[in-house]
This record gives sequence, C-alpha cells and structure tokens, in this order.
Amino acid sequence: MREQVERLLEQARQQLEQASRASEVRDVRTRYLGRRGEITGLLRQMSSVAPEQRPLVGQMVNQAKEQMEALVERRLKALESEEMDKRLADEKIDITLPGLPAGPGTGHVLVTAMKRIEDIFLGMGFSIAEGPEIESDDYNFIKLNIPPDHPARDMQDTFYVDAEHVLRTHTSPVQLRAMLERAPQVPLRVIAPGRVYRRDPVDATHLPNFTQVEGLAVDRNITFGDLKGVLEEFARSFFDELTVIRMRPSYFPFTEPSAEVDVSCTVCMGEGCRVCGHSGWLEVLGAGMVHPQVLENGGYDPGAFTGFAFGMGVERLTMLKYGIDDLRHYYQNDQKFLRQFRSL
Ligand code: DAH
Repeated sequence: MREQVERLLEQARQQLEQASRASEVRDVRTRYLGRRGEITGLLRQMSSVAPEQRPLVGQMVNQAKEQMEALVERRLKALESEEMDKRLADEKIDITLPGLPAGPGTGHVLVTAMKRIEDIFLGMGFSIAEGPEIESDDYNFIKLNIPPDHPARDMQDTFYVDAEHVLRTHTSPVQLRAMLERAPQVPLRVIAPGRVYRRDPVDATHLPNFTQVEGLAVDRNITFGDLKGVLEEFARSFFDELTVIRMRPSYFPFTEPSAEVDVSCTVCMGEGCRVCGHSGWLEVLGAGMVHPQVLENGGYDPGAFTGFAFGMGVERLTMLKYGIDDLRHYYQNDQKFLRQFRSL
C-alpha cells in the first residue's frame, strides 16, 4: 500500500509540474482527489486492510492526500497568477497613444450654398438685409397683400406664437423691413437669406423648417427686363455658364405681374431627362414686379418707383446643383453624406 501511495504521489507531482495551464492542474486534481480519483479510491479500499493496520494506513493515505492537495494548490496559484499576468499584458491599453484625429470642421453644404448665393448677389450690388424669424402677422401676411381670409394663407399655414405673431413662412416680410428702413432713398438692392417655417409634414421634398433667399430691388424705372437679367446672371453663376431661364406667368399676392422661374435642366442641359420630368426645365423660384400696394406699404410712392422681387429655396437649389434626392439628408447629420461636400 505504501508503495502504491508513493507512486501515486510521485505521478501526481510530475503531472503537476508538466501542467502548463490552471485547467490542466484542475484535471490532475480530479484525477487523484476527485470523487472517483485514485486517492479517494484508496480510502475506499480501507475495508480490505487488516483492522490493526487500518489506523496506520489511513494516516498514510490521508497524509498523502494532504500533501497532494497542497501541491495542487501551490501549482494552481502559480499558474493562475502567471495567466493573469499574461492577460494583463495582452490586454494592456496604451493610453499614451494619440487618438483618432477629428479633422478640421467645415461648413454644412447648405451654409456653403447660401454663401455662394450671397456672393453672387453681393457681386451684383445687392447688400444683405435681415429680419426676425418670429415675425408679425402684419409683415408676414397683411402688408404683403395677404389679408386674414386670403386663400394664400392655406399654402403657408404656420406656427402661431400668439394671435399677432408667427414663425415667418417666407423671407418676403424682410422686403417691408428693408423698404421701411431706407425709403424714400433709392436705389434699394437687398437680399434676405434666412430660415422660414411652415406646417408641413416631413418627406423627401418637405420640411417644416427650411431656408430661403429673398431679393428686392427698388428704383426709378426698374423693369421686368432687369429682373430677368439679374436672375439669368444668378442661374449662370450658381449652376452653369450655359444655363438659361424661362419665366412663366404665375400669381403671388405681393407681385404684379408674377412669374415662376425655371432653369434649363442641370442634368440634361434641356434635352429632357428623368430629373426634369422630360420637360428640359426645373422650377427654381418665384418672382415678379413689386405690387404697388406693397411699395406703398414700404414707404415708396408707386407712382415714382418700381421694383422687382424674387424668392428662392436654398435646399431645392442645392439639391438641383448636386443631385441630392432627399431633403432630409441635410438634417440627418450623416457624415458620409456631409463629407462629400467638404471641399466645396
Ligand atoms: N414668398 C414666396 C414663397 O415663399 C416666394 C416669392 C415669390 C418671393 C415671388 C418673392 C416673389 O419675392 O416675388 O412662396
């Protein structure tokens, strides 16, 4: 029995030494000390040992068991700490490494487009006028010939701050502010870029919040020809040198006559394609000669002065210029979309 015990002890010792992982040590433990292990087996065989030898043999086996437990424990600890050291080393993060560079920020494509539009008109002698986004109903509607019951209000339903104030539905009220500031001096040539609001649902072509650029010129003898010349110059500068425009009769309460302005399709150059619905033309803005009543509301004598005005949507112009197919791209902050316009 003694030899058997010593042999087992020696075997276990060797196996423990050879074990290179904690899990292998645990296997060794199970093999000798587990419920069906070799040492446990020896203890079970005690019944076959002569009664007078049992205390001695029992003591011997128990000592061997304790010894083996101690060996296992020691080897386990050593390997576990080795493994932990290795894991710590492997998973070490070098916090002194430089992070990913954020890169310089750039203007949003709409801001860039707006600046481009502003530059074109500044180059033609216009200056920039501003007005509040919370506008009086009076300036936003009434002084532009849109009284409370006028059907034009239906297309420009908006957010009412109180009974007399709205989030402006267009930049046209800035026309009045600019005129009242300058009248009766001429020439008056301003553009008014800014945000406007409407009670519209969000889809590919509508947002409740978008951007317009208004234009206004008042002087003696301003004609429809001046309007056409300015708009054509704008279209050529913004889109392409070869762009031409056409004007179709339309209606706005604050201009007379009024026109919808189309540019030759930026994709097919007027040949006809899917983008322009095979017409060769894209509608880009509204314009007209300032209505005499509006001139008067702005402090100019309609008998002495005339003027033209126009209003354009920046989101739409930018979509046409860059082939953007959905208005929502502008506001989703998707870097993959925005980065395409980084160097413009
Ligand atoms: N304010 C108009 C709108 O938002 C656009 C517009 C049309 C402005 C004709 C003008 C103009 O100044 O003459 O629908």
